[in-house]
Amino acid sequence: MTDVYALHAEIARLAKERDAVILAHNYQRAEVQDTAHHVGDSLGLSRIAAATDASVIVFAGVHFMAETAKILSPGKTVLLPEPRAGCPMADMITAEQAVAFKAAHPGLPLVTYVNSSAAVKAVTDICCTSANAVEVVRSLGAERILFAPDRNLAAWVASQLPEVEVVAWDGYCPVHDMVTPAMVIEMTDIHPLAEVITHPECRPEVNALADAVLSTSGMLRHVAESDADEFIVVTEGGLLHGLSKAAPGKRFYNVEPKMVCPNMKLTTLEKVRDTLRDMSGEVTVPADVSAAALTSVERMVSVG
Ligand code: 13P
Ligand code: SF4
Repeated sequence: MTDVYALHAEIARLAKERDAVILAHNYQRAEVQDTAHHVGDSLGLSRIAAATDASVIVFAGVHFMAETAKILSPGKTVLLPEPRAGCPMADMITAEQAVAFKAAHPGLPLVTYVNSSAAVKAVTDICCTSANAVEVVRSLGAERILFAPDRNLAAWVASQLPEVEVVAWDGYCPVHDMVTPAMVIEMTDIHPLAEVITHPECRPEVNALADAVLSTSGMLRHVAESDADEFIVVTEGGLLHGLSKAAPGKRFYNVEPKMVCPNMKLTTLEKVRDTLRDMSGEVTVPADVSAAALTSVERMVSVG
């Protein structure tokens, strides 16, 4: 069996040699989170990627996250330890479809969730993450907007901003969209004192049962501050590692053990080590696409 501690030490040594910063999303495997310099949500990690002095960014996450880091820091080398780690929701809209969506609704701004390709971001007015989607839409001051690709995040935004009409693309996250109200109710029957926290990628009828609807980092902050001792967590299971660290002694129940994003779990410690050793898995974005996407991504990073 590979010694996890030896791998952590090897990764730390290689990261120093390569002048690399290792970023890990909150859904990564526990041991990958533990080897990273920074663990966070899409917004927090984008901000770190934009501000880092390191020459190399190793992104333990999925492809659109590494791509966003490359857009924000085009002069840096961005490495994705597992090149097959994609996001099915990001694949639910192409740039051609986004252009047609806008053409069908002339004059409406297109707000695009960061879970999307660079090519879609390039034809977008402003991007958002789950942490700042409501603020981003509010900042536009528009009566009607287009939102892609997540219909559930779109519905969450619409519920928070009744004055705005949100025309949504029909995409979704398979991991969050599989959760039904019955699953949540079954868990609240078992743990009646637990707070229910859901991610806005969940269906509206699931979010309606929540005590709080939060991004992953929002959940980490919330559990530390809340008076509750128990939480039913309706998001990808990798977050439970961070939750237990954020609020030691409190209890967390994942609503459904099948809430696992297979793409997020493709990255292993060995792959992080190999990436640093071989400088493999470089993510590139064509210069014209990157330049066109930068404005919408920079606007995202500056809101909220
Ligand atoms: P956040 O960590 O930004 O809440 O995003 C969740 C997600 O599904 C990323 O793919
Ligand atoms: Fe994509 Fe959902 Fe996985 Fe996030 S959890 S990377 S939205 S499939």
